[in-house]
Amino acid sequence: EPNMTSSVDWPINCTVGPGLEGAIACETQIGYVNGAKGWLIYRGYDIFDLCAHSSFEETSFLLLHGKLPTATELETFSKTLRRRMFIPKTQRLLLSFPVESMNPMAALRLGTNLMRQKQTYQDHLPGTPAEAPLHSDDDSIAMETVPEGKKNPVFQFLTRFFRPVPTVEPTDLVSSDETESCYNLIAGVASVAAAIGRVREGRIPLEPLPDLSFAGNYLYMLTGRRPTPLEERIMDICLILHADHGMNASTFASMVVASTLSDIYLAIGAGISALSGPLHGGANVEVVNMLERIGKPSSVKKWYRTAVEQKRKVMGFGHRVYKAYDPRARILGPLAGMLATENPELKTMYQTALALEQEVISHLGASKKVFPNVDFFSGIVYRSMGIPSDLYTTIFAVSRVSGWCARVMEYIENNRIFRPRALYTGRFDEKYTPLQDRS
Ligand code: ACO
Repeated sequence: EPNMTSSVDWPINCTVGPGLEGAIACETQIGYVNGAKGWLIYRGYDIFDLCAHSSFEETSFLLLHGKLPTATELETFSKTLRRRMFIPKTQRLLLSFPVESMNPMAALRLGTNLMRQKQTYQDHLPGTPAEAPLHSDDDSIAMETVPEGKKNPVFQFLTRFFRPVPTVEPTDLVSSDETESCYNLIAGVASVAAAIGRVREGRIPLEPLPDLSFAGNYLYMLTGRRPTPLEERIMDICLILHADHGMNASTFASMVVASTLSDIYLAIGAGISALSGPLHGGANVEVVNMLERIGKPSSVKKWYRTAVEQKRKVMGFGHRVYKAYDPRARILGPLAGMLATENPELKTMYQTALALEQEVISHLGASKKVFPNVDFFSGIVYRSMGIPSDLYTTIFAVSRVSGWCARVMEYIENNRIFRPRALYTGRFDEKYTPLQDRS
């Protein structure tokens, strides 16, 4: 039996298409996607309700623990995540690699692997650790101790960490308990993703602030600017609605790795790798590049004709499961529209997006059931916050890590290693020709 607590009789009969389309690989109580009706449900709660009323912290708790937290649980969980966004040792290790010239998703994957190291600082937020605090935008203080010629702020950051640090054994940072690792990962991926954005601009990673939410801190640590309450809330909504989505490629990749009883950090690293592709999470970067290339609404028809001639997929459209409008795009579309009204540059991009949406739906909506997906409007929203477009997929990862963790934890409870088969269509009975006889 693959699952001792199974509520269904395995094996299940299902029709499987290429790319495992239609295959049922496991049972879950975490999330439900109904592609025909355009539903997305986490643990019984509709995504529209969660986006309207919940926070990313609460949603992550729900995904991981199967129930909404009490007020005390939520406070403790939020504090835990905030504390664990401070990961100086991981950041120091990460900065010893050429992060600024790496693909951001590759750097994020690297950071996730490095995160497994024990941290040497523990709870010190707010306040001062035994060594110098890392309030890093304060370049002038550190400058005094940095030798001439070494004034690069990233170098300063590194040298500060090469000083001896107190080796206090953290009581809650690293634990053999997988749940603790999930907390580290949810907090740590956000922290590393933000650090990557900073380091690429020659800036120093920032610490989380005690009075900001998870979404607020992520934005602050990424941009170096305190977000407005509206930006904080919108990022919160974006994180909620990207958090989980069935057996998508990256979730499945994480689960496959975890099913070998590999380490959860490596499993999440696999999720990050799978997410990076343009057919999956990488599409949000491609959408913005595409809208920029199109330029204006009046150029949409010509651009679309060329794309069809060249048999190119239109980024941000189509979905393996949704054959109706993606509910996440139904939330992000109006948000992008609202933000675009105040920003002339975004306004043109948003109007171009609307024209493209109309064009694609009129050609492919009825025949192929192709509609905008989650990635179609998210880039416009992130652009309004001043986030560089090649970082958009890392934002997706910051959110999806909670879904990956929840799914991995659920699966390994009744683990069975993933091992599908392939249909062999190759040849038999070939005769081996020695190298020198081959033409
Ligand atoms: N543009 C043009 N045509 C499309 C698109 C698109 N974006 N998506 C699907 N179609 C067409 C296909 O060409 C196919 O036509 P056919 O029947 O003539 O061959 C038909 O619709 C069915 O599509 P499939 O290719 O079978 O869909 P599949 O489930 O294999 O792929 C995928 C889904 C990868 C998302 C695809 O729609 C796509 O490439 N979209 C663009 C990339 C993108 O936006 N990815 C993000 C998805 S959401 C996420 O991962 C978070």
